[in-house]
Amino acid sequence: MKIGVIGLGFVGLSLSSVLASKGYDVIGIDIDKEKCNKIINGVSPFFEPKLEKTLQNGLKKKLKISDNFLLINDCDFLFVTVGTPQNPNGSINLSIIKKAVSTIGENLLKNKKKPIILIKSTVIPGTIKKIILPILEKKSNKKDGKGFGLISNPEFLQESSAIKDTEFPHVVVLGGNQTTFMKKAKKLFTKLHPNVPIIITNHQTAEMIKYANNSFLATKISFINQLSNICQKIPGANIDDIGKTIGLDPRIGKLFLNAGPGYGGSCLPKDMKALINFANISGINPTLLNAVEEVNTKQLEQIILMTKQKLGDLTAKKITILGTAFKPDTDDIRDSIAIELIKKLLKKKARIIIHDPKAMKNTKRIFEEKISYAETVQDALSKSQCVIIMTQWKQYEKLNNNEFKYMTRKFVIDCRRMLVGKQLDVDYYAIGLGKEN
Ligand SMILES: NC(=O)c1ccc[n+]([C@@H]2O[C@H](COP(=O)([O-])OP(=O)(O)OC[C@H]3O[C@@H](n4cnc5c(N)ncnc54)[C@H](O)[C@@H]3O)[C@@H](O)[C@H]2O)c1
Repeated sequence: MKIGVIGLGFVGLSLSSVLASKGYDVIGIDIDKEKCNKIINGVSPFFEPKLEKTLQNGLKKKLKISDNFLLINDCDFLFVTVGTPQNPNGSINLSIIKKAVSTIGENLLKNKKKPIILIKSTVIPGTIKKIILPILEKKSNKKDGKGFGLISNPEFLQESSAIKDTEFPHVVVLGGNQTTFMKKAKKLFTKLHPNVPIIITNHQTAEMIKYANNSFLATKISFINQLSNICQKIPGANIDDIGKTIGLDPRIGKLFLNAGPGYGGSCLPKDMKALINFANISGINPTLLNAVEEVNTKQLEQIILMTKQKLGDLTAKKITILGTAFKPDTDDIRDSIAIELIKKLLKKKARIIIHDPKAMKNTKRIFEEKISYAETVQDALSKSQCVIIMTQWKQYEKLNNNEFKYMTRKFVIDCRRMLVGKQLDVDYYAIGLGKEN
């Protein structure tokens, strides 16, 4: 059995590496030649814990990497894992996936195999039936259910635990018609993930499950962030104790209840916007989803307000940002709140210096010489008038007076409450903590 994976980003490269390390014959395809060359040499093009080791293990077995689509011709299963970014108006941009499935269709035309094509990319409900299926049928001159099988297979992995999540997913969702192709897909996943629930449904429900999942997570984050704002007005109140305690209620669950600067990353913001856009064009006013987004936007404004209240006019003020990755253990800065914050502070003419253990290179690609980059936290704090801790990198927990002493004004905004309880000789503000009078 041979498996093809189209698109070697966080989802596709994790999937190909895990499958190959389990001994499957895998061909990973990406249009980015430079990316392919890195991967062929066992180097991951982005930072993801355990990925490089799994990739190298896979390459020693039967993992092949190429930009040549002809190599998918003898595949039994084809996973589509290309990006589905957002348009400026928030709607989903399907141009990349349309191109990828179009090329798959052209290859199918000359091919005797009847592969199962699984769409892992996140797409708005109706996309697979109304857009992807017609492209595949037209280009291949074959019919779904006969010449190939088409299945929706949304992905739920999280960056920073992508390998673990790929090996041990909490659920497998398979959407599509109940054909022999679906039976074969179910067999593959049962073998790959014994004891993991497999939900078999239609395309549109599978597509909607992914949006339901991400919009619920975003709702949890905005909920706890709104409560954290209320806590800030209650002297002595602590949002962490509240989040931890309500999380013990099995009806609520403990994850995604950490107050912070708002949700960011490559999935939640774009999926929320795509769902809101989809609801609006479907004639549904997404009141709750809009409120979730509004709370998220306001969270960032609150940080800027705190900065202005302390420093006054921000022109030429030196501000340190600790962490630009959207979460720890990744170098991904796509839709990171820290990046948004820097953009807004630059508009106010502040001078920005940043530190991040993994995401410096990606951050430099955006801001180039507009901001400064520090190799060490100490350098980042030197002569600074304000530091904002944005990403919960473990090493920032160790910050103490020794490092802060290099600041010209010791004003600390801790968006992750990493320094709570420390005896610090600084003016300290933390999101979600009510200051004692
Ligand atoms: N990143 C996540 O945490 C995550 C989690 C769950 C679901 N998803 C969804 O999975 C999809 C992929 O996400 P990602 O973060 O891995 O994307 P990504 O942007 O990191 O990677 C996509 C890859 O596809 C390649 N590509 C583009 N066009 C191609 C083509 N025609 N043929 C072959 N390769 C092509 C790109 O070069 C890139 O390497 C998206 O729809 C995303 O919403 C992502």
